Amino acid sequence: MKILAIVGSPRIEGNTNYLVDKALEEAAKRGMQTEKIILSQHDIKPCLGHDNCASYKKCTQQDDAPWIIERFCEADAVILATPVYWYNVTAQMKTFIDRNYFIYQHGIQPRAKAVGIIIAAEMEGIEDTLNTLRKFTEWTFPIPKNRIISVTGYANKMGEAEANTSLVNRAIELGRKLADIIQEENSG
Ligand SMILES: Cc1cc2nc3c(=O)[nH]c(=O)nc-3n(C[C@H](O)[C@H](O)[C@H](O)COP(=O)(O)O)c2cc1C
Repeated sequence: MKILAIVGSPRIEGNTNYLVDKALEEAAKRGMQTEKIILSQHDIKPCLGHDNCASYKKCTQQDDAPWIIERFCEADAVILATPVYWYNVTAQMKTFIDRNYFIYQHGIQPRAKAVGIIIAAEMEGIEDTLNTLRKFTEWTFPIPKNRIISVTGYANKMGEAEANTSLVNRAIELGRKLADIIQEENSG
């Protein structure tokens, strides 16, 4: 049983990564296999927009996106995590989202039965960012809305998320809920 986190923050020691680690640590304590992919560490090119994915077996962009999306499709639960950059997701996260158009066009349904969303911002833009990730999730995963669990909070400088106990606890709770849902799915 696996949980995969896709992280849109390029700050490896930053707030988003910290909260994701807390969620994954909790899920691992509950027997989950976990993996984290930091998008900025990979070569992911923007969608070319030819809108003709269905006629290609492979996306025409030659980069790391296909294997990341393959892992994304195989996970039992996923976490989508991003800081707010200019009132929305980071460029890395948006590029990843756009590249999922390939599986959408091919009618491929990812396996995940629960999705976690984690967002950190200095002060403004969480609503629009959450809306972007929720809409992507709703289009991509045919799961009930109560299986989309989001944690959002304010943190700016490095270490601010870590110092925010309530935010950290909510991230831990997110990891616990994802693990519980997957376990329930697999026992039924
Ligand atoms: C390019 C850029 C744009 C940003 N835009 C916003 C914004 O629109 N609203 C906001 O509240 N914070 C904004 N921030 C602040 C980040 O969301 C905040 O520092 C966050 O904690 C960064 O997360 P990280 O530590 O995981 O990288 C921006 C930061 C950067 C670098």
